[in-house]
Amino acid sequence: MSSLASVQEIISRRSQKLVQAPGPSAVQIDTLLKAAVCAPDHSALRAWRFALIHRENIDTFADLAIAATRRSGREVTPQKEQNTRKWLSTVPLLIGMAYKISHNNEKVPEIEQTLSMGAAAMNIQNAAHMMGFSSYWSTGLGSYTDEVPEALGFDPLDYRFVGFLAIGTPISPAAPAQRPSPETLTTTWRPN
Ligand SMILES: Cc1cc2nc3c(=O)[nH]c(=O)nc-3n(C[C@H](O)[C@H](O)[C@H](O)COP(=O)(O)O)c2cc1C
Repeated sequence: MSSLASVQEIISRRSQKLVQAPGPSAVQIDTLLKAAVCAPDHSALRAWRFALIHRENIDTFADLAIAATRRSGREVTPQKEQNTRKWLSTVPLLIGMAYKISHNNEKVPEIEQTLSMGAAAMNIQNAAHMMGFSSYWSTGLGSYTDEVPEALGFDPLDYRFVGFLAIGTPISPAAPAQRPSPETLTTTWRPN
């Protein structure tokens, strides 16, 4: 693939929430994670962590996420619960993502740790798209409770949980994205 075609792949990526089998194989998951750990990483903290939740465990995970969200005091209406269960019922793979916080790191403030985690997640999303899968980053499913990250092995004292990627084959074609014109967001600085 020419480099321009690779960039075109990135430009054509769309998030799609509704995905189904086939999901990525074990080898493809390994490739997605290899892409993730290529993210820029100040001081080589290697802080990124990934928790794989495969199809056979996703419905049980949904039970946990819904109950934990309610226990944390957030409302989950019966309709919201039904929508969440329906969505998750076809998702082949969830990847929970967190980074190990480097507390009081004078060289790498936490904003940089967060950005590196975001870059790792974006690498997964772009790589999944290039493999023909769709992905969707969600900070629902109890991401902001203590209980859900803990259940995935991420004690909130040590880890910052940043949500889930749902990955699989899109159920329907993506609508074209409405993207802003970059020049409306860009300036060029020149010395006076
Ligand atoms: C950190 C992060 C968390 C997100 N969490 C949610 C979410 O919980 N629910 C949601 O509807 N979209 C969420 N989104 C937005 C979608 O993942 C997606 O980016 C958005 O629908 C735009 O689609 P696009 O990637 O095709 O532009 C989140 C995005 C980011 C970056």
